Amino acid sequence: MRYFWLVLTSVISFTLGLPQTAADGQMVPNVAFYIRRKVLLEDGGPNRTIRILVLAPESPKYPYSLFKVLAAVEFAVQKLEAQGRNGPLGGRSVKIYEKNTHCSSTLGPLAAFDSYITGEVDVFLGPLCPYVLGPLSRYTAVWDIPLLTAGGQNDNFDQKKPYYSLLTRMNGSYTQIGHIFLKILRRFHWHVIALLFHNFSDHILGNSNCYFTLSAVYRKLNREVYYLNFDETDPKTNYSNILKDVTQHARVIVMCASPNTVREILLAAEELNMVDKGEYVFFSTELFTSKKENANPWMRKGDSQTRNKRARKAYEALLTVTARKPETPEYAEFSRTVKDIAKKKFGFDYGEEEVNTYVTAFHEAVLLYVLALNETLEEGGHITNGSIITQKMWNRTFE
Ligand SMILES: *[C@@H]1O[C@H](CO)[C@@H](O)[C@H](O)[C@H]1NC(C)=O
Ligand SMILES: *[C@@H]1O[C@H](CO)[C@@H](O)[C@H](O)[C@H]1NC(C)=O
Ligand SMILES: *[C@@H]1O[C@H](CO)[C@@H](O)[C@H](O)[C@H]1NC(C)=O
Ligand SMILES: *[C@@H]1O[C@H](CO)[C@@H](O)[C@H](O)[C@H]1NC(C)=O
Ligand SMILES: *[C@@H]1O[C@H](CO)[C@@H](O)[C@H](O)[C@H]1NC(C)=O
Ligand SMILES: *[C@@H]1O[C@H](CO)[C@@H](O)[C@H](O)[C@H]1NC(C)=O
Ligand SMILES: *[C@@H]1O[C@H](CO)[C@@H](O)[C@H](O)[C@H]1NC(C)=O
Repeated sequence: MRYFWLVLTSVISFTLGLPQTAADGQMVPNVAFYIRRKVLLEDGGPNRTIRILVLAPESPKYPYSLFKVLAAVEFAVQKLEAQGRNGPLGGRSVKIYEKNTHCSSTLGPLAAFDSYITGEVDVFLGPLCPYVLGPLSRYTAVWDIPLLTAGGQNDNFDQKKPYYSLLTRMNGSYTQIGHIFLKILRRFHWHVIALLFHNFSDHILGNSNCYFTLSAVYRKLNREVYYLNFDETDPKTNYSNILKDVTQHARVIVMCASPNTVREILLAAEELNMVDKGEYVFFSTELFTSKKENANPWMRKGDSQTRNKRARKAYEALLTVTARKPETPEYAEFSRTVKDIAKKKFGFDYGEEEVNTYVTAFHEAVLLYVLALNETLEEGGHITNGSIITQKMWNRTFE
């Protein structure tokens, strides 16, 4: 449904006469473009400050909420600036701007548009929310401004030209989850599987991240897989009934939902005697592990002992595929510093929550962009030439 909506906006763009492609260098002369250019010319020396705009929803309920990711960006910038003239910034300074996208397909792109005309952006970091990323990454192709994100893993964004030519997706480990699944399924010769995932029933909210994650698996299996989605935010969702339905189609069930919902589903499975005979295999994808509770994922402090016990048993039938975080001392140090910056500079307390892979991706994005920018400038290119900077980001792997 929302997929069609996405396609539809492109159609509307055509009818409004927006350029179909920026790749051929055809920039539509427009008022915003001239306002921006005037602003940039006023302070545009070769050593001018680099402006990074971070776009994310402010609400802390997102794993990639603004203050979580800002801390990682800030950390990367501090490290780079500390290297001074000998570092990849060549002594330039960086200013970080931030905008709350509210994860809204209207407010997000509008916020970015403001920054565009006021010249406050040389590079976009984020957004992740697909319906903000969609329109904005099409604008950036026209604006010739690079955009780096840890989102955009669904294949709509694969079409580089003409729409997404300035979009760089940081393939955080979670984009590889689909591939990992396929490997496991093939390894055990499990062909008949069913997908069970959370999806909002409210159209306004669009497809869920679970939808996008599992859609990669779905496509790879030639779209011949039974799937069922439910709205985990709807208290009327009856997991027993859902399980009765999917188990008519498969014995290997791949789930994607919040940890609490996964637990509810497993409790329902236990009640239906689905967990002790080894007849069914449950998979769960965890895009990011953020809570300490992962050591005992079945445990809920507020729940009764009986239910916790039943959950514990049910979890024996569960295999979880998750983005692995490095266990190195460097990573621990990174994590500690990010949390520290978040608290001191942005007043955000991570608490028990871990620094997740989205946050790491924002940190890496800064480094990647700055390396590509350095190379561009060294070759006599300009910071406003987003296409060339993007080209230099694509084929680069780095630690
Ligand atoms: C920019 O910085 C370089 C080295 O840091 C310096 O040689 C050059 O004069 C500066 N250019 C301007 C216009 O300030
Ligand atoms: C590029 O990076 C190198 C160090 O890696 C630095 O010496 C040089 O000044 C940088 N060049 C520019 C244009 O910033
Ligand atoms: C990154 O993700 C995109 C989209 O899923 C995929 O086409 C590409 O091959 C991935 N790149 C790497 C290096 O994994
Ligand atoms: C997910 O939910 C949306 C909104 O209710 C719906 O239009 C869409 O078809 C659902 N996706 C799937 C795969 O069923
Ligand atoms: C789910 O539906 C079944 C019958 O369709 C009912 O027996 C069961 O109590 C329901 N479960 C919940 C949690 O409402
Ligand atoms: C960007 O750089 C490329 C390669 O150097 C060049 O061909 C292109 O004309 C430049 N674009 C702009 C807008 O300057
Ligand atoms: C990236 O690498 C691939 C293969 O390694 C090559 O075919 C492609 O031309 C490269 N792209 C750029 C922009 O350098």
